[in-house]
Amino acid sequence: MVNPRSSSSYRLRRSRFVVPPTIYRLALILLAFSVFLFLVSQRQIPVFDRGPSLPQKSSELEERLWDSASGYGYRPCVKPTHKYAGIQKSTGATDHMFSPIENPKSERSSATAKYFLCAFVLMSYTLYCRFSPIFNFLLASSHYICDMVAVARLMNATLIIPQLDKRSFWQDTSTFSDIFDESHFIKALENDVHIVSELPKEMESAPRVRKHFTSWSSASYYEGMSQMWKDYEVIHVPKSDSRLANNDLPVDIQRLRCRAMYYALRFSNPIESLGKKLVERLKSHGPYIALHLRYEKDMLAFTGCTYGLTDIEAGELKILRENTNHWKMKGINSTEQRLGGFCPLTPKEVGVFLHSMGYPSSTWIYIAAGDIYGGETYLSDLRSQFPNLVSKVHTESLATVEELKEFAKHATQTAAIDYIVSIESDVFIPSYTGNMARAVEGHRRFLGHRKTINPDRKGLVKLFDMLEKGELKEDTKFSSLVIDMHKHRQGAPRKRYGSLPGSKGRDRFRTEESFYENPFPECICPTDHH
Ligand SMILES: *[C@@H]1O[C@H](CO)[C@@H](O)[C@H](O)[C@H]1NC(C)=O
Ligand SMILES: *[C@@H]1O[C@H](CO)[C@@H](O)[C@H](O)[C@H]1NC(C)=O
Repeated sequence: MVNPRSSSSYRLRRSRFVVPPTIYRLALILLAFSVFLFLVSQRQIPVFDRGPSLPQKSSELEERLWDSASGYGYRPCVKPTHKYAGIQKSTGATDHMFSPIENPKSERSSATAKYFLCAFVLMSYTLYCRFSPIFNFLLASSHYICDMVAVARLMNATLIIPQLDKRSFWQDTSTFSDIFDESHFIKALENDVHIVSELPKEMESAPRVRKHFTSWSSASYYEGMSQMWKDYEVIHVPKSDSRLANNDLPVDIQRLRCRAMYYALRFSNPIESLGKKLVERLKSHGPYIALHLRYEKDMLAFTGCTYGLTDIEAGELKILRENTNHWKMKGINSTEQRLGGFCPLTPKEVGVFLHSMGYPSSTWIYIAAGDIYGGETYLSDLRSQFPNLVSKVHTESLATVEELKEFAKHATQTAAIDYIVSIESDVFIPSYTGNMARAVEGHRRFLGHRKTINPDRKGLVKLFDMLEKGELKEDTKFSSLVIDMHKHRQGAPRKRYGSLPGSKGRDRFRTEESFYENPFPECICPTDHH
């Protein structure tokens, strides 16, 4: 079940070796292809192996731009400890959980047949995820599903594949198996938790209860909840914010979450294969950057960031903010907001930033984002510096209309494509923080601390303003200021942050770094550790 990825995550870099005569080249291609086939056949997790490294001559610059110091000496560790018991099919108290269908009578009379039903209630979910509901939905769903795997384990329950709420307001009719590879999910976790596609017919009339678990609960909370099995055989968990605590859980439960998230849960085949195709096409040009460009209308309206926009646009955003009831901040001083580092970088600022960091203008950049406010009007500020700017929407060069047609109707699935391309990128850069950015960063940390650059927005804005006033020029001095500023913002290993000092009660949990945003130290270990 566990793929020793640490040993196979070499990077395929543009080779600089001498081009051999045709016959050798053919042989090389054949060899490379068979290695590729081998790797594909070995693949067990939703990411693509990068193939063996080729002889290369890498300059210091290349290394600084693209490498993450070979995982900094850490590797994923998700194996259970020796204390962890796999679930057994034929002994002990859990036996009946496996044969409800063959032996429905005895099953029904036993008060210990435990089924665990979760459904997503999207409306309640979107209230606390203001932006990119689709992307956030995808992430929250996967985090939620993986938490429920752990909860099912804690409660000795059988997990039923979650159903997406049909009343979802964006009319996406995707089912779990449209988005995720269901049979792989069930199989990959067979030693951990029993999972079934749907509630067996015999159980439909079994005593059932709806239960909203308290968010951020501990292992002992859920173990205590097992008392409910005395009265019920099916628990229906309708709320997607019934989350497990981030911290202070047994290491085996944390590792189970990682196995579920990073190994068992992978996208369905059509999504994986299109994602893979895009990644390959991008990589054919060399290493690439995935840019999470948060420059959507909602985002700008909510944050009150109008820097660089016309008065008419600023007015439009203000009206949108004032008319959106659940956004509490109304009167925002855009200048102060920007100086405080609370604004997403503009496409133009991103261009200056990338250029100063040393990325050549030929670099391919994939934009993982929704609709950019103003469209090409603002995007062109970035495109003029980095012409190889593509996204899934406007890129004949990456995916054909035919390929995308299949997904066009399903926003969740196109969001999944962005996720794959972001995980697999050589460098991931979010222009603003958010759930998506943090979740992608967490996944990249897990896979070997792949480079994620978090722009220091507050620091950058100061520099940008000095550029504007003519106090600085876009030269090597400026460039070294930007590079220095980001030395320690590139996703190097560190422990998950705890709660903010002084936060109390439930706020404590909310201010913690989420488990999936940085599964260190439970699921990331030093390379020499066993
Ligand atoms: C779950 O099952 C195991 C083994 O059958 C048992 O030791 C444990 O107490 C059970 N846990 C709960 C919460 O029922
Ligand atoms: C916004 O804040 C800036 C900087 O503090 C200040 O100069 C400006 O006058 C403020 N604008 C408004 C409309 O209050």
